[in-house]
Amino acid sequence: MNTYRIAAIPADGIGPEVISAGLQALETLEKRDGGFKLDVTSFDWGSDHYRRTGKMMPEDGPERLKAYDAIFFGAVGAPDVPDHITLWGLRLPICQGFDQYANVRPTRILPGVPSPLANVGPGDLDWVIVRENSEGEYAGHGGRAHRGLPEEVATEVAIFTRVGVTRIMRYAFKLAQSRPRKLLTVVTKSNAQRFGLVMWDEIAAEVSKEFPDVTWDKMLVDAMTVRMTLNPKSLDTIVATNLHADILSDLAGALAGSLGVAPTANIDPERRYPSMFEPIHGSAFDITGKGIANPIATFWTAAQMLEHLGEPKAAERLMAAVEAVAAKGIRTPDIGGTATTQQVTDAVCEEIRGANI
Ligand code: IPM
Ligand code: MG
Repeated sequence: MNTYRIAAIPADGIGPEVISAGLQALETLEKRDGGFKLDVTSFDWGSDHYRRTGKMMPEDGPERLKAYDAIFFGAVGAPDVPDHITLWGLRLPICQGFDQYANVRPTRILPGVPSPLANVGPGDLDWVIVRENSEGEYAGHGGRAHRGLPEEVATEVAIFTRVGVTRIMRYAFKLAQSRPRKLLTVVTKSNAQRFGLVMWDEIAAEVSKEFPDVTWDKMLVDAMTVRMTLNPKSLDTIVATNLHADILSDLAGALAGSLGVAPTANIDPERRYPSMFEPIHGSAFDITGKGIANPIATFWTAAQMLEHLGEPKAAERLMAAVEAVAAKGIRTPDIGGTATTQQVTDAVCEEIRGANI
């Protein structure tokens, strides 16, 4: 029997509520499957830890995480701690320190979940956005001089390396190849950004030669928002820079009905380090503690985690359960229902126990 060591970091806002829901589903799957075990350790890192100690996680945090097979992450962000501190103190050091360079964001319209797009339902929108997750606009290069003076200057430099672009392109082509439509859209802004993103286009063309069976095209990011909205069926796998894909994935989540269902996987494809799985939605202070956070994004990312660990059957079972519960109308308010987090979780666990797949 395979045992996987999972580091759970619920962190801030609704993070603890959705991670608790996710762990209940994972435990139910473990019992149902009988073929694997999850050994979960929870870490109390995040904004409370920052208020207590001045640090989002201990100095040796990343070192301690190396012992785990995967990281199951809630959300960071608190109203009284600046966002750049919460982000650069916990989530980005894990993504960047563990070279989780592929950020994978699937989007589908789940049964019964209304899309804001007219005449678009399940099957019409089935995308995976691959976000470059190690460099680009999030490289952390830049600085400020003459602070507070009229001549103050700040730079925010986007970094694109041949190694970084080639590896994400290869990952995206491979993923596109594994999906039935074998279709990839490469997003840039290479009309205006004429260095890094022209190189991005050139590398896409080079890497495409390794994947002759993948059909691919290029889109400028502004035009891409129009295509996603007006012609969602024309897209399948999408690859974009760190910032562009950040923006497009919020749009994707909204078009599929709610950010509350959108998952993400921060993957080190070479498996040198643990990969990290999280819902996209963030800490959501407005609904924290109300018991109505949508747990679906966390279930979905738990399914991504199971797949990454090598348990595709359990991953499939979890998604089938989520879809069945959504179809029955047991849904949280963000997707038009009246159920609580716990009611959705109980229904998903019930479905897993009875699932015939
Ligand atoms: C996301 C989020 C983060 C990001 C925020 C919290 C910094 O928006 O995962 O998409 O931009 O990476
Ligand atoms: Mg985002």
